[in-house]
Amino acid sequence: MADQQPTAQGARGPAPEAEIDEQGWAWVDGQVVPLAEASISLAAHGLNYGTGCFEGIRGYWQEAHQELYALKVLEHYQRFSRSARLLRIELPAGPEQMAESTCALLRRLDVHQDVYIRPLAIKASRTIKVGLRPLRDLVAVYTTPLGDYVPLAGLAAQVSSWRRIPDNAIPSRAKTTGSYVNASLALDQAKSDGYDEAILLDQGGHVAEASAANLFMVRSGRLITPPVSADILEGITRQMVIDLALAFGIPCAERQVDRTELYMADELFLTGTGVQVAAVTSVDRRPVGDGAVGPLTSRLQEQFFKAVRGLDQDRRDWLTPVYGALKP
Ligand SMILES: Cc1ncc(COP(=O)(O)O)c(C=O)c1O
Repeated sequence: MADQQPTAQGARGPAPEAEIDEQGWAWVDGQVVPLAEASISLAAHGLNYGTGCFEGIRGYWQEAHQELYALKVLEHYQRFSRSARLLRIELPAGPEQMAESTCALLRRLDVHQDVYIRPLAIKASRTIKVGLRPLRDLVAVYTTPLGDYVPLAGLAAQVSSWRRIPDNAIPSRAKTTGSYVNASLALDQAKSDGYDEAILLDQGGHVAEASAANLFMVRSGRLITPPVSADILEGITRQMVIDLALAFGIPCAERQVDRTELYMADELFLTGTGVQVAAVTSVDRRPVGDGAVGPLTSRLQEQFFKAVRGLDQDRRDWLTPVYGALKP
């Protein structure tokens, strides 16, 4: 698939539907191996039962600084550790060391473009018995260039008839591979019905999140987002946006959100490593606000992209410079 046209602000690279090029290298159980040889058995437990967890991390290339900035890489590995713990997977190293190994991999690959990093930990034993132990684990990290995951300037969303998986079935708080069946069913329904994105309600009928992104609403100048107890993934981008809003003096409430509030919101947007900050301009074919990207969404989008490209001095701590010290 051809490279996406870069949007004014977003990531530059292939579309997320593109097959990942297997040239290059992956980090597998502490060794750097050719990606094409980093394979797993058809009989692997994780492949058969979804017993694995993963992360998605973006690195943004800044031409003016000749630097690749890995975004919140430590926070992603901290969440990776928590997800692994739930699945009784023992990671070979702590978050700091995995973050450093990832930067070393990016340097070895000589990445000079926007990139997506995928840490993956799965049960690799070739066994039939369901459960979590005793099973052999495999931990890997691979990378691929990636453009915008969705268009940033106006998604048509559908409230899905698929409900978000509840915490006491498959916890959303952990980023487990098997739980993405839920997201895939919802997105498939949305796409089949002519929408761009799905919004999932929780078991109680309140708004949880989108297929692979957290959701924010603007009402009367205030930001509102479902709380971490609403069967959402505790999004790292979500927290970045909350921090940005608070720095701008914009109040942000984490509270239960009713479905009908989506129809009455002034603005709606999604946040996530993949989607970045993407506006939702209609829900169930009803325009959000006046149907255009709202002013607060635009402002947060703009500041987010400045920060991830190393152009916001106050948010340099979001970034790990892969090639060296932070440059002005
Ligand atoms: C289900 C789901 N919710 C939310 C998010 C957003 O999380 P983050 O901002 O940490 O990428 C993702 C992420 O990628 C996701 O898959």
